[in-house]
Amino acid sequence: MQAVAAPAPDPAADPGPAAVIEVEGVVTRFGSQTVHDGVSFTVQPGTLVGLIGASGTGKSVLLREMIGLQRPTAGRLRLLGTDMWSAPAAEVDAVRRRFGMMFQDGALFSSLTVAQNVAVPLHEHTALDAQTIDALVALRLQQAGLPAEAGAKMPSELSGGMRKRAAIARAIALEPEILFLDEPTSGLDPITARAFDRLVRSLVDELGITVFLVTHDLDTLLTSVDRLIALTRGTVRADGPVHEVMQVDDEWLRTYFSVRTLVAHDAGHSTTAASVAAPSTP
Ligand SMILES: Nc1ncnc2c1ncn2[C@@H]1O[C@H](COP(=O)(O)OP(=O)(O)O)[C@@H](O)[C@H]1O
Ligand SMILES: [Mg+2]
Repeated sequence: MQAVAAPAPDPAADPGPAAVIEVEGVVTRFGSQTVHDGVSFTVQPGTLVGLIGASGTGKSVLLREMIGLQRPTAGRLRLLGTDMWSAPAAEVDAVRRRFGMMFQDGALFSSLTVAQNVAVPLHEHTALDAQTIDALVALRLQQAGLPAEAGAKMPSELSGGMRKRAAIARAIALEPEILFLDEPTSGLDPITARAFDRLVRSLVDELGITVFLVTHDLDTLLTSVDRLIALTRGTVRADGPVHEVMQVDDEWLRTYFSVRTLVAHDAGHSTTAASVAAPSTP
């Protein structure tokens, strides 16, 4: 059930660009626990889509299913037109090169320098020579907003914000068409988080990457995303522009937004102060 009415499809209308993400009737069960009970949505290229939902609603599981790491109980997940669970292995492998992923913990290999971390997917998926890889790594670090010197550092020598940028640099190493981010600003201070939001937005606006991100950060939602999808009780409860989703009559959504906007009001600022003191939901 979608709370925000989708416009009726007009068969004569220009279908527009093909969806890059297609999620259709996804059901996920772990034993007797039903995590997803028919989740469906599509994402058009060049958009920044946010996914929200209470802790444990299956956001991370859905991401893992989309990228072919965890098999859903039923339903279809297509990336760039390829069914991640029924296409031939070679086709799925080819699609793997065309998206990037930053996991919730943003883990880098701790024994490798930042530059070596960013080079990992290039070594894994291309036959480029060392010189070309070095040049590409330098470009990715720059695109992720890191100074060139950061490349020689070990992840432990970087601040939290810079580590996230390094993880982004690695996730965009192969110039992906889609980038999946799981709670990218969690654990960052508000100023660093806003800078990170701008970076993500620039990946969409300047590089044309489609970004699908799971977030609890209301600032990210209000200032960056083009569209918001809310998961509650295993289904898509709302799907649309943020201001529309905020109006949806749903208990969890009301609580979610009221807690965060109250905090913002108390702080005497606009909603941009919301995540400063908002309780973080893992
Ligand atoms: N491999 C697994 N086996 C059993 N249960 C799992 C597994 N992975 C996730 N779950 C359960 O699925 C639910 C959704 O998890 P998750 O997607 O991580 O939630 P979140 O929305 O917070 O990211 C949780 O109840 C979690 O315990
Ligand atoms: Mg999660």
